[in-house]
Amino acid sequence: MTLSTPPEGRNRQWLVRANPALDELVGPEHFDLVEVPVPSPASGQVLLRTLCLGTSPAQRGYISKTKSMHEKAPLGSVMRGRGVAEVAASRHADFEPGDQVMATTGWQDYVVVTPVQQGVLSTRKLANPSLAPSLNLGILGAAGLTAYFGLSDVANLAPGNTVVISAGAGGIGSCAIQVARCLGAGRIVGIAGGRKKSAWMTDYLGATAAIDYKNENVGAALDRHCPEGIDVFFDNVGGPQLEAALERLKLGARVAICGYIATDYTDTPAGPKNYVYLVRRRARMQGFFVFDYEQEFETAGALLARWFSAGKLRPCEDITAGLENMPMTLQGLFTGANRGVSVCQVGEARVRRKV
Ligand SMILES: NC(=O)c1ccc[n+]([C@@H]2O[C@H](COP(=O)([O-])OP(=O)(O)OC[C@H]3O[C@@H](n4cnc5c(N)ncnc54)[C@H](OP(=O)(O)O)[C@@H]3O)[C@@H](O)[C@H]2O)c1
Repeated sequence: MTLSTPPEGRNRQWLVRANPALDELVGPEHFDLVEVPVPSPASGQVLLRTLCLGTSPAQRGYISKTKSMHEKAPLGSVMRGRGVAEVAASRHADFEPGDQVMATTGWQDYVVVTPVQQGVLSTRKLANPSLAPSLNLGILGAAGLTAYFGLSDVANLAPGNTVVISAGAGGIGSCAIQVARCLGAGRIVGIAGGRKKSAWMTDYLGATAAIDYKNENVGAALDRHCPEGIDVFFDNVGGPQLEAALERLKLGARVAICGYIATDYTDTPAGPKNYVYLVRRRARMQGFFVFDYEQEFETAGALLARWFSAGKLRPCEDITAGLENMPMTLQGLFTGANRGVSVCQVGEARVRRKV
């Protein structure tokens, strides 16, 4: 993979240029690529060099005018985002050059941060620095953790359960299929758009069955693949797929609401019109946010790493190359261009680390 690099001493940044309208696809026209000098850290700060950046549908919410639970990124500011970075220079006692960290770098090559220990803006050393940085954004990072907490805690997945996962070939969905298998699910049904993604969910991720929502009737396919009904629905999508699943819940089923990408283009998303099935099936539906589990990240991350070492989890990152491609990488989440956890590789590690 050949990566573009900034000229020596320069830092490329993507600034927010415009807010996408309510029904507009996010893309390059909403950002400006500029070049500024590489900043210097003051006492207590570190200079980070970005290695790779994660993307999330939530980032459209940072810059769109729709209501969002996330803080907005003002026009003219560096687009917010988290990624894996290398410490390039340090004036902080806990960090030294070559350390690899998870940090809120923003869409840029370099950033100076004052490390924060807790919360969504924290700067923390990687638990698995010997592995490819992208894994720390994917199956062993926030995507894997979101799948894990959604299934184990929110949905109380029990061995033998029939589990259905929407956007099953997306980032969190591809982790959820694999984590559900590790947690002992009986049947695992992934829903995604297109034949290739369907084949990937069964052949690579280990789903029992796949539903191609672009070419199949989801309700009829769920009837076929889950004849006894659904114990757990892990939902990334909302809209008609959520309604189809609600209608087919078993008694005592659990619905974990992770995301709602199908309703992202409205300020007033319609709720499921058939929510009465929650009463009929004595079912529970609960939304969650992965950072609410921050105190448990270390323990859960260690469990994911053990499953990975044992060959029970596979890498599922979809890597694009080059900071210049960030806007299109984000757009790809909304057009279904990604398969797996969408990660943009920005730079290569340069500092030789002590072993
Ligand atoms: N709760 C939390 O803590 C938390 C944390 C992170 C992310 N999230 C949410 O979790 C969801 C998944 O996030 P992710 O980062 O892994 O993204 P992702 O699943 O990779 O998102 C993109 C995928 O969604 C599918 N999609 C796009 N538009 C769709 C539509 N209108 N209807 C159905 N499917 C559609 C596309 O796949 P197809 O080709 O299959 O259409 C696309 O590849 C998002 O809603 C995100 O906001 C929640």
